Amino acid sequence: MTKKLETQLVQLGNKSDQKTGAVNPPIYLSTAYQHEHLGHSTGYDYTRTINPTREILEKGIADLESGDAGFACSSGMAAIQLVLSLFRSGDELILEEDIYGGTYRLLKQYEDDYGILSTYANFSNSESIEKQITSKTKALFIETPTNPLMVEIDIAKIAQIAKENDLLLIVDNTFLTPYFQQPIEYGAHIVIHSATKYIGGHNDVLAGLVVAKGEALCDILSTKHNSIGAVLSPTDSWLIMRGLKTLHLRMREHQKNAMKISEYLSDEPLVTDVLYPGKGGMLSFRLKESDMVGPFLENLQLISFAESLGGVESFITYPPTQTHGDIPVEERTRRGVCDRLLRFSVGIEDAKDLIADLQHVFTQLKRRFTQNG
Ligand SMILES: Cc1ncc(COP(=O)(O)O)c(C=O)c1O
Repeated sequence: MTKKLETQLVQLGNKSDQKTGAVNPPIYLSTAYQHEHLGHSTGYDYTRTINPTREILEKGIADLESGDAGFACSSGMAAIQLVLSLFRSGDELILEEDIYGGTYRLLKQYEDDYGILSTYANFSNSESIEKQITSKTKALFIETPTNPLMVEIDIAKIAQIAKENDLLLIVDNTFLTPYFQQPIEYGAHIVIHSATKYIGGHNDVLAGLVVAKGEALCDILSTKHNSIGAVLSPTDSWLIMRGLKTLHLRMREHQKNAMKISEYLSDEPLVTDVLYPGKGGMLSFRLKESDMVGPFLENLQLISFAESLGGVESFITYPPTQTHGDIPVEERTRRGVCDRLLRFSVGIEDAKDLIADLQHVFTQLKRRFTQNG
């Protein structure tokens, strides 16, 4: 019987230890496994290849994302690198142009070092994508909602374009997680997570996950995962499972708070626009003047000015110098990541306290900017 997502999350890894009946999965630290005789294996030989704790997480995330196999990596970037290892010199990828700056940076390096070319398109417009497809194009790569401008992309529509052109569709699902969105259900072939974010959920583990659909693709990724070796440690695998058990509860609260904060910011005269897709816990907004950004961040008392997202604590990030700092300034400005833009990972504190913190900051800004004329 297929269980509801909430039940799958809570029960992930439970009662997996037949020998002791331990409710929680054990952390297997052993890197090596003994063989009884030549040709014998328990199925576990060496921990980079397979580890019993990591394996539970990998099976769990594959089920949650409706894929056939999961791969736990040492960071979200290691997960992206694992996926990029599918491509070779001369291949081309088309990416949504509003994407995490670290992905942009890595792809730039792949282009310079290995001749794997990436071009960028506006994925809200099919023509913009189709125009860039060449005989060398191998994959489409998106985040939805886009990062940091929060535009929702129709995954099913993009999957159709991928299908017609025999391309892989790769979706970085870090922002919405399988709780809100399962891209494989809409036709994606590969899902990536920076599990450092909502999946871990507590700003205390660096991790990445890849889920793929299709036996051939999973086999290649499995080989590369082992040969590259940027796998997640057993303890961190366990911590990520611990995070997953409360994902549904956290995501609901993140979303509830984000809705309240987006309403509050929409009424604030010093905010020119609020970018919230109506789903999840991430939103961005623009202040009236770029000079206000520094004092805004300095005056926050409860919300942290920090570079990450998806933890229980609220973070505000400044994309131009942080997450998107490696995109050349003209390019990032053309893409809409202007100097007035802030990105808010709304936490699960009481929304009233978060709004009070923002109110306090805006009062300071009004005082300062009115006094200075
Ligand atoms: C959407 C997205 N994908 C991937 C990454 C990379 O993940 P990590 O920092 O875990 O390497 C990040 C990191 O901020 C991200 O925001």
